[in-house]
Amino acid sequence: MSPDRLLRWPVMLVLLPALMLLSGCKENRGDPAVYNRHCASCHGREGQGLRALYPALTDSAYLGHRIGELPCLISSGVRGKIVTGNRTKNIRMPAFADLSIQEMNSLISYLQLNWGKGGETLSEQKISQWLRTCP
Ligand code: HEC
Repeated sequence: MSPDRLLRWPVMLVLLPALMLLSGCKENRGDPAVYNRHCASCHGREGQGLRALYPALTDSAYLGHRIGELPCLISSGVRGKIVTGNRTKNIRMPAFADLSIQEMNSLISYLQLNWGKGGETLSEQKISQWLRTCP
């Protein structure tokens, strides 16, 4: 083998992984900005929730077959009651009515990419359509 050909192998070994990184083989997990600013304080950075108080988002139906209801849930908030033993506690999720469609789209895409079951292709158009169906 000529010295020229021998040199090619180490060059390839360095170049290939670098090319794979550049070409976007990296997993796309979306932009966490809106989530971290508005949601992580209750639901946790990893969507793990907080005991009985704040539900985990990692196994939520709103990131599966109920995803069409998620924009309304976020913009209207949730009021609810939890019963622990003989105590009833009112828990609530604040309304995020001021999020723009862009922020809502970026947020829901982030949730879906990280903890969703996939399936729906999201767009700003679809999200505004869902928002028009809020009760
Ligand atoms: C002040 C704490 C708080 C903040 C901030 C908050 N939530 Fe919640 N969230 C709750 C509580 C409490 C519930 C449960 C309400 C109930 O079921 O009665 C809930 C429920 C949910 C659910 C339904 C989970 C399920 O499957 O039952 C989703 C989805 C959700 N929140 C997403 C978000 C997103 C996205 C944000 C940020 C825009 C956010 N929450 C911000 C407290 C919070």
